[in-house]
Amino acid sequence: MKYPITAILIAIASCTSAQRSTKGENPSKSDIEAAIATTIPHSPVSNVKGLAFDRFFQVWLENIDYEDAEADENYQWLASQGITLTNFYAVTHPSEPNYCAAAGGDTFGMDNDDFNRVPANVSTIVDLLDTKQIAWGEYQEHLPYPGYQGFNYSNQETFANDYVRKHNPLILYDSVTEDATRLRQIKNFTSFYDDLKDEKLPQWAFITPNMTNDAHDTDITFAAEWERNWMTPLLSNEYFMKDTLVLLTFDEDKTYPKGNRIFSILLGGAIPDDLKGTEDDTFYTHYSIIASMSANWGLPSLGRWDCGANILEIVANKTNYINYDVDTTNMHLNETYPGPLSAGEYSKFSPVWPNALTEGDCSAGHGILNIVKDTYAGTKPTYNYTSPFPYDTNSGYNTEVNATRKSPSSSSSPQASSSSSAGSRGSISPPTSHSLLMGALMRFL
Ligand SMILES: *[C@@H]1O[C@H](CO)[C@@H](O)[C@H](O)[C@H]1NC(C)=O
Ligand SMILES: *[C@@H]1O[C@H](CO)[C@@H](O)[C@H](O)[C@H]1NC(C)=O
Ligand SMILES: *[C@@H]1O[C@H](CO)[C@@H](O)[C@H](O)[C@H]1NC(C)=O
Ligand SMILES: *[C@@H]1O[C@H](CO)[C@@H](O)[C@H](O)[C@H]1NC(C)=O
Ligand SMILES: *[C@@H]1O[C@H](CO)[C@@H](O)[C@H](O)[C@H]1NC(C)=O
Ligand SMILES: *[C@@H]1O[C@H](CO)[C@@H](O)[C@H](O)[C@H]1NC(C)=O
Ligand SMILES: *[C@@H]1O[C@H](CO)[C@@H](O)[C@H](O)[C@H]1NC(C)=O
Ligand SMILES: *[C@@H]1O[C@H](CO)[C@@H](O)[C@H](O)[C@H]1NC(C)=O
Repeated sequence: MKYPITAILIAIASCTSAQRSTKGENPSKSDIEAAIATTIPHSPVSNVKGLAFDRFFQVWLENIDYEDAEADENYQWLASQGITLTNFYAVTHPSEPNYCAAAGGDTFGMDNDDFNRVPANVSTIVDLLDTKQIAWGEYQEHLPYPGYQGFNYSNQETFANDYVRKHNPLILYDSVTEDATRLRQIKNFTSFYDDLKDEKLPQWAFITPNMTNDAHDTDITFAAEWERNWMTPLLSNEYFMKDTLVLLTFDEDKTYPKGNRIFSILLGGAIPDDLKGTEDDTFYTHYSIIASMSANWGLPSLGRWDCGANILEIVANKTNYINYDVDTTNMHLNETYPGPLSAGEYSKFSPVWPNALTEGDCSAGHGILNIVKDTYAGTKPTYNYTSPFPYDTNSGYNTEVNATRKSPSSSSSPQASSSSSAGSRGSISPPTSHSLLMGALMRFL
């Protein structure tokens, strides 16, 4: 057997019925050492043309309020090289549910940083990418070996926080961890530099610096300097930059009672020169990034909150999709609705795994992933996933928020994208439970 440790870990994992455990689970030191010696990173390559970019890399830092990032001089420099997204929101607190949402389009009620697992009947962004064999990977700094599933891997001299599972989006999903090849695409920064040198970078990647560099255990000054230094050589690397879009963002803000708006920058060769140093004030969330991949590469939706999410303007302009203006006055994206991964910290526990949407139009315009349609056939979607922002009528979550289609002629300048409904294609507000029920009944008629 080629990957004995991985196989053993999967076997142990499959026998565990609990989907959440509060204490960290780590393999033994000797198992880790054996796996380091035997687990070979996998670096598939592909060249599938996209409408606005051919490669997408996102780098996430931790827990910084919008204003603090905006005030940092290294961030100001990075912003001058690209487009600043001034209205981008994380979807809840604390960290882990945001990483979870970025991969699977839902929080599942998660309100903690525990050893959470999402069952195999939930699909992720990599299932979407796989429909067109678009190569993907993750680069997690100081992950000891590809596909490591432990709770943490600390600095082995000081035992300070270094790699942590809660910042690794794909590893939370059984649909990823049950596949040994997929696991080997979850690599560390050593592999990033190998893949860069060998010109074997994937077309989609998620990058997590360690707990020092991502500001978690430091501050914005430290992390912004790290990020600028990390990006600078890449920005002049012709291979890396060609038709590439990079998103620099944060998992969440720091001050929980605030709105969870996070400072985000788009960089890279895919950005036209005349848009460098500009702002895009469209409302986005982490779900918008999944939707933007679908729109860019013509991929289906997960049938979760990616379905109705606004699409990055740089892509929406190519597909002529009209995004929504979302009135954030009454929005609460600093917590989430009830679900099976709640520990009762900020949300309520509910044993029910939410059903995905199986039919309907999504913002990207390419329907819903076949396996999602098959898995959830005949079930009622738990939420109205066609909304551009998450809400839940049952628990009264974000039911006071409304959204209006942008005026089709609106640009990214603040004046032109006011929420005036003149010329808009329609206005929505979260429905009453009665109309939601009627809507659901209509679906089956
Ligand atoms: C990165 O992963 C490789 C195996 O792919 C391993 O040999 C190496 O020790 C890891 N590096 C770090 C810094 O964790
Ligand atoms: C995980 O973190 C704990 C607590 O800091 C530490 O004692 C332990 O050595 C770490 N485990 C690994 C595998 O790094
Ligand atoms: C995080 O990584 C950097 C190198 O990028 C290293 O200097 C630092 O010591 C690491 N943090 C820990 C706690 O090991
Ligand atoms: C979210 O924000 C509201 C309004 O500021 C506040 O009342 C609530 O406690 C916050 N939630 C969390 C989890 O901090
Ligand atoms: C998905 O898996 C969860 C956990 O095993 C289960 O509770 C749920 O019923 C499944 N959903 C469907 C539609 O099969
Ligand atoms: C769901 O949301 C969409 C778009 O936000 C809205 O047009 C529709 O009326 C809602 N559907 C139901 C059944 O409430
Ligand atoms: C959203 O609803 C509030 C009242 O709930 C209203 O004051 C506001 O004008 C509405 N915004 C839009 C864009 O319709
Ligand atoms: C999208 O199109 C609008 C209207 O033509 C333009 O103002 C804006 O700069 C474009 N944005 C991007 C990111 O291409």
